[in-house]
Order: sequence, then structure tokens, then C-alpha cells
Amino acid sequence: MALALLCHPTGHHNAGWLHPSTQAGASTDIDWYRSTAQLAERGLFDLFFIADTPAARTSNLEAYSRYPLFMNVFEPVTLLSALAGATQHIGLGGTVSTSFTEPYNVARMFASLDHLSRGRAAWNVVTSANDFAARNFGLDKLPPHARRYDRAREFVDLVGKLWDSWEDDAFVRDRTAGLTFDPAKQHVVDHKGEFFTLHGALNIERPPQGHPVIIQAGASDTGKELAAETAEVVFASDATLEAARRFYDDLKGRMPKFGREPEALKVLAGKPVLIADSQGEAEDMYQTLQHLIHPVVGRMRLGMDLETDLSDLPLDEPIPEDRIPRNSNFHKAYFDKIVEMIRSEGLTLRQLYLRYERGNQTLRGTATQVADHLEEWFTAGVADGFMVTPSLMPQGLERFVDGVVPELQRRGLFRTAYTGRTLRENLGLKRPPNRHVAPAPAMAAAK
Ligand SMILES: Cc1cc2nc3c(=O)[nH]c(=O)nc-3n(C[C@H](O)[C@H](O)[C@H](O)COP(=O)(O)O)c2cc1C
Repeated sequence: MALALLCHPTGHHNAGWLHPSTQAGASTDIDWYRSTAQLAERGLFDLFFIADTPAARTSNLEAYSRYPLFMNVFEPVTLLSALAGATQHIGLGGTVSTSFTEPYNVARMFASLDHLSRGRAAWNVVTSANDFAARNFGLDKLPPHARRYDRAREFVDLVGKLWDSWEDDAFVRDRTAGLTFDPAKQHVVDHKGEFFTLHGALNIERPPQGHPVIIQAGASDTGKELAAETAEVVFASDATLEAARRFYDDLKGRMPKFGREPEALKVLAGKPVLIADSQGEAEDMYQTLQHLIHPVVGRMRLGMDLETDLSDLPLDEPIPEDRIPRNSNFHKAYFDKIVEMIRSEGLTLRQLYLRYERGNQTLRGTATQVADHLEEWFTAGVADGFMVTPSLMPQGLERFVDGVVPELQRRGLFRTAYTGRTLRENLGLKRPPNRHVAPAPAMAAAK
């Protein structure tokens, strides 16, 4: 199975930064990131992943000051470039939004990261989901969800074309012939589309992986369409095996119409985990963290995904139906999940914000129990691997690496050494051929 780490510096839990085992200043501490990436590499993880949004929040600061979501963080590609020098095997993935950048920038950054890391780069394609980000780039509000995905589709296509703007062996560096590159092996991209106009080639040679790995986590219908067409890794987020199976089958079932094989995409099920020596201890730790969630943060986190202000509502009563917005424009899948919970479970506002984990549920137990759970999902064929998100960092990662990984290895479910040189090779993904180079003739044809 594949394993990725979603690295929140103080852990996945909203109140993680208040826990004494975490380091409050970790989000801008390169030493912390270096040792954490090395720890994940010791655990033979495929991928170290950084989420992002290009904005600090500028209103409701009372709430954000109690849960500093992306308020003080490194820009992901800059950080991953530094980590490339501190690690040797683990993949390095980060989020860059297609709504606020240009394809040339992104193609160049990830090509550079792929060279810096010798073939370990991955780009998480997101369309962004908050108006704070929009306002940093000349807009009042995010464009509509469907428009953002239209732009993302053209964006990803262009980035791929730019990565193919040089053939693999274009830079010959032939001193005898006096040629640095073979002019016939440059392929200019000439594009005039709905969102972008571009004429040019990348000023860096083709990435070691051909294309850095494309990640996606969109869970709406539109998001799944884009993933089926373009993604090679998808982060899923379901709490139950049945829901995970539906998502997995749905996503892989959409691939053939884009001419893609199901194996060309790895679904990694998101797993928030809290590991302790006994189930009781894990549950106690979880409840301790839950009690640390300030109500102002609980309301804000829920209101953010429900796309409405919940600050005037009583905590111990259900959210009235007339407070549910008619449409959503941020993360559609999360919005739908909250609405479903409001309508089906009759929870109070407080119960709802304590229960809601963006469709997921923290797995709490011993290392063996966590391994059992992962084995069950993996062998049931509802995930190709897992995106592990410890509630507390780095403690949760240490427990995973020292407890769960050996257990998975003992069961023959996880590698005992890195075998590939690149992230693609470790994930079992093919290296994309350059679209301008005719495939080598098949053996049969050559006879
Ligand atoms: C593991 C994981 C990581 C994600 N990382 C980011 C991120 O870094 N930035 C972001 O804006 N959205 C991120 N998302 C949100 C997704 O890109 C997407 O918006 C969400 O799944 C809802 O999809 P939808 O808009 O298609 O409904 C992440 C989702 C998951 C499950």
C-alpha cells in the first residue's frame, strides 16, 4: 500500500497547537520540518505533503487567533525545495492553486523541484475555496465553482504541454559539436484557450519524472471529473468503508472515458489518526483535545465550510433550516456533508462542530488496531493506500512509524525498503512519454 503524510505542523486536530506535546512555532521552523520529513522517510512513506491557501484571514480574527489556519506558514514549493536537500527518497508534494497562478509559473516551479529532488515532486491541483485568497489577486470573490474547475482543466493541460516542451534528451551538452541542446528537440507550446494564451517553451529541461505527479482532492462531481481525467493520486475523505467504496468505484469508473486505466490513479484514503498504548488512552486523549476546542473556533470552522456566519446561534440548539445557504461555492463536498448532517442527525451546533471532520472521522486506538483498520480497507479494495494525518505532531507520526509501519510490514502489506528512485516508481505509476516522441516500436512489430 502507498502511504502519504499530510503534515499539519501541530497536528490535524483543531486544538493540537494547544497540546504540550506539539511545538507552537513549528509552522515556520525549518529544523522542525526537516526532522519531520526525515522521520516520515524513516517510516518509508511515499509522500510528504503540504496543504496551502494563498491568504491570511483578515476578518473574524478573534476566531483565527485561536486556530491559526494558514495564518503563518511557509509557501509550499519553497519549503519543499529546502526539504529536497534534507531527504533522499520520500516524495515531496505541495498545493498550488490554479485560480491564482499562471501555468508557466507552476510548470517551472514543479519542474525545478523535480530536478532539485531528483524525481520526487508532486503538485496538488486545487481551485481554492475562500474569498480571502481571491482578494489577494484582484478579485472580490472566488469565481463560481464550475468556472474554477474549467480554468483548472485548461491549466493542468498546459502545464503538461510545457513539461513536454523539451524532449528528455534535448540537452546534449556536446562540447565536440559545440551544441548545448538539439534544436529539433524543443517543442514550442502555442496555445490560445478560454483562460490562457501562451507561446513558448519552459526554460528548464524535462523533469526527471517526465511529469511531476499530479494530485487532486476534489470531491464534488466536477472535482471527480477533473481527477478522473488528469490526477495520478487522489486524496479521498470518507469515514466508512461503504462510502469509501462508492467514491473509489465512482472515480475509477470515470477514467475509461478519458482513455485511462484505473491503475494510473492511486486513491489514498485520508486517515486522521490518534495512536496510544490502549484504546482507552487514545479515546481519553481525543476527548481532552475535543474539550480544548474553543466555541468560537468550533463555530468558525463549521461556518467556513457551511459558507455562513454561525456566530449568533445558540450552541446547544440545532442549526435552523433557514440558516443553510441555498448554494455553495467553496468546497462543495464539505458543504453537502454538513447539510446532510444537519438534516439527518438532529445535532446541536456544538455537537455538530465537535463531530464534523470534513466527512472523515479520527481513527483512535493502538498501533495494531490502526494497522487492522488499514488492512481491512486495503484488502477490501476501497483504497490504494492512505493519507495519514496524525492528530498531534510529531508524536502521532512517531507512533505511526514505530508502531503501525512495522505491523504492516510484518503482514506483508508495506515495503521494507524504498525500491524506486522516483516518487512515480515508488507509487507504481508509469513515467509519461513525451507527447512529441513516437513510442518505440513494440517487440512484435520489430520482428
Ligand atoms: C487531504 C486533502 C488535502 C487538501 N488540501 C487542500 C489544500 O491544500 N488547499 C485547498 O484549497 N484545498 C485542499 N483540499 C480540498 C480539496 O481540494 C477540495 O476543495 C475539496 O476536497 C472539496 O472538493 P470540491 O470543491 O470538488 O467539492 C484538500 C482536501 C483533502 C481531502
